Amino acid sequence: MHFCHRKRTILALFFSTLGIAGCGGGNSSTSASGAAMSAAAVAAAAAASPEQPPSILPQGQLTALLSGPKTAQTPTMGWSSWNPLGLAISQSILEAQADALKKNYLSSGYNLIAIDDGWYHDRDQTTFAINADTRTISGFPGPRFPTTSLRPLVDYIHAKGIKAGIYTDLGRNTCAQQQDSKAQEVDNTVPAPNNQVGSLGHEVSDMTLFFDTWDFDYIKIDGCGVEGYDTPPPPPPYQFLANYTEAQAMAQYQTLDAAIAGTNKYKNGSVVINATGMWGGRNVRNWGKSIANQWRTHGDIHNTWSGIMGPYNSSVGREFYAGPGHWNDMDQLEIGVKNGDFEGVNDTQLTAATAHMSLWSILASPLILGHDLTSTTAAAKAILPILTNAEVIAVNQDVAGNQATRVSTGAAGDVLVKALNTQGKVAVVFFNPNTTQQTLSVTWSQLRFAPGSSASVRDLWQHTDIAGGSSSVAGATGPSYSVAVPPQSAQMYIFSGTHILASSSPGSRYLSEMPAWINVAQADPSWGTPVADKNIHGNPIQINGTPFNYGIASVATNLQVALNKQFSRFDAQIGIDDNVGAGRGSVRFMVYGDGKLLYDSNSATPGNGPVRQGMGPYPVSLDVSGVNTLELIQDPADGSTSYDEGIWANAKLTALSSTQEGETLTGAVAASCSSCSNGAYGSQISNKRPATSAMLLLPSSASSATLVVKYLSAETRSLRVTIGSNPAITVNAPPTETSWGQNIVGTLTIPFVISPQDSTTGAVRVKFDSPPVSGTATVTNGWAPDIDVISITP
Ligand code: GLA
Repeated sequence: MHFCHRKRTILALFFSTLGIAGCGGGNSSTSASGAAMSAAAVAAAAAASPEQPPSILPQGQLTALLSGPKTAQTPTMGWSSWNPLGLAISQSILEAQADALKKNYLSSGYNLIAIDDGWYHDRDQTTFAINADTRTISGFPGPRFPTTSLRPLVDYIHAKGIKAGIYTDLGRNTCAQQQDSKAQEVDNTVPAPNNQVGSLGHEVSDMTLFFDTWDFDYIKIDGCGVEGYDTPPPPPPYQFLANYTEAQAMAQYQTLDAAIAGTNKYKNGSVVINATGMWGGRNVRNWGKSIANQWRTHGDIHNTWSGIMGPYNSSVGREFYAGPGHWNDMDQLEIGVKNGDFEGVNDTQLTAATAHMSLWSILASPLILGHDLTSTTAAAKAILPILTNAEVIAVNQDVAGNQATRVSTGAAGDVLVKALNTQGKVAVVFFNPNTTQQTLSVTWSQLRFAPGSSASVRDLWQHTDIAGGSSSVAGATGPSYSVAVPPQSAQMYIFSGTHILASSSPGSRYLSEMPAWINVAQADPSWGTPVADKNIHGNPIQINGTPFNYGIASVATNLQVALNKQFSRFDAQIGIDDNVGAGRGSVRFMVYGDGKLLYDSNSATPGNGPVRQGMGPYPVSLDVSGVNTLELIQDPADGSTSYDEGIWANAKLTALSSTQEGETLTGAVAASCSSCSNGAYGSQISNKRPATSAMLLLPSSASSATLVVKYLSAETRSLRVTIGSNPAITVNAPPTETSWGQNIVGTLTIPFVISPQDSTTGAVRVKFDSPPVSGTATVTNGWAPDIDVISITP
């Protein structure tokens, strides 16, 4: 795959147009050996290509993430009418689906009935409102919708405790109007412009109608009015906007977003936006998160093995684009869909359905049911436990929001690994797409478990502990674990073990295992996506002869990392991957924290020039406490991105913690105290001094915990405490001693709720200051007690 060494070849452009990660999975034929570069060669190369001013600049904050309501923090779960019913929808049919969802699926988390294409009839040319189709047509017992308003249907769905979704198009007409214009549900006698039910030009009135008048909660925005499938185009009166550019498509999504943002529903924080209409094209992976909560990575899914492999292959490897609030949408599930490979009529199909569910779940795709929920066939009953498997769904809905990384792929199949929110807990799918049984393995290194450590292994489909987990079953020990995987099937496990960083720095993580923390703010799409733990060709990372198990490989990127002030250090080893060949590439690595330059590789290299193959690896070790957004920049120093295959090897974040007695809290002024338990007051706070804070580790898998504060005070004083995302509270600290210097430590216990935001990083910031001299504080002298030790207990 040599094309990846050059910028923007025709082939790379072709792949990027299709939305395929063109540079992520190929084999490099360039030798990695003997690539070290002499100092003279370095100097010569530097002279040949002078360094340019940086072209990739820090943004100072997380960019391209949806501002406003934080919806879809975990992947959407629900049902859509398109796969099972197509255009054959009506109010009573949709109500029956809502009834069935409530009966069988709602308690498992599927909480959305999304109406797809085919609900409209025409657009009123006075009010510009869209009328639902009230005609009575063949096969429907009465009018399709009793009124031109969908509000009665939405009310019915809401009354069941279910959310309701609507469908529109970026352009003037929907996909069905364009492609199924002869279907009876599409009235092709309606003349233009009345037939223009797509939202182009009616953005504000449509979004107000959908969200505030009709009370919908979710919108799917298709793109047939932009894309135009038919050649030649369908005859008048149907119109479409063929060949929008990427910028035009993005701009139209932004116009719709602005209209959605004006609705009360959005302001109340409950709108989920599904941008379907790029089908993975026009580099939507780069900008989808700025306009939607989820975007399709591929064309429409089909109910065959080959029909699900397109969506699978277009999403796997794109983990750096997904995370809470923004997901790669692999399209709705084909499980239970009639006459397909996943219907569930026999064991082969049930096995296939299990594999389909495993893949969608571990890749953090929205889980949108695609079958007729009212079906009572044996197959419909047989697929129910697959679709409602709570252990599998929990992997999909894990609050950390990581999309699995494919740690290995080959003739035998794929192994997908997803770090869960709790350090040391990893979900794994072993997927065998072949027609013969295969053995697939995962290594302790891929699981990020300490070498030789013991782990427990739980089978999520059998609901059994197959190693460890219960006292009667011995734990599995590395270096690897192998599984026999029957033909066209997947096994799904959770491994619970000792994270390789747990003993040295609890709560710390390699960046490549937490793709949800990363926002790819800038990347040249012709190079494909950043890659976890491999070079951009999918081969092992090696910098100047040194191999690395972990890291992120990318070209000409700004990778933004959401630290939220929850980490103390960033460490990495930087360099160019050896596969490019001797002395090639030229990259200036820079790290910014909240817009401030923290590291520049020019300060490490000979001649203060760019990093080239054969140099380094150079260590980067930075204090990042207090930093919200870290930006890892690989600037193409000589202006060209050729061979700029930079690696942030072993990039890791160290969690802040201050659970040990004797540690001085960040920002605190320590006062000497010979009789204190640790020889010094940890912190002496007053309103004359800055607030003081510390990071504490949270207990794993708990929703609440208790903060314990040990303190000294000669009088009653008040302390204001802010724990993570909780509101500040003021507590009164009774006197602990009669005179200063006596070591009679007082204890305050403060129960608190752990928000998903805090639990994602496994640590929480606790901030102390003195309360204002009024309010609930009983002491108003502005002094707080002297804090000695703080800790968190479950
Ligand atoms: C497109 C979308 C599908 C579905 C149909 C409806 O093909 O990708 O998911 O909404 O339109 O016509």
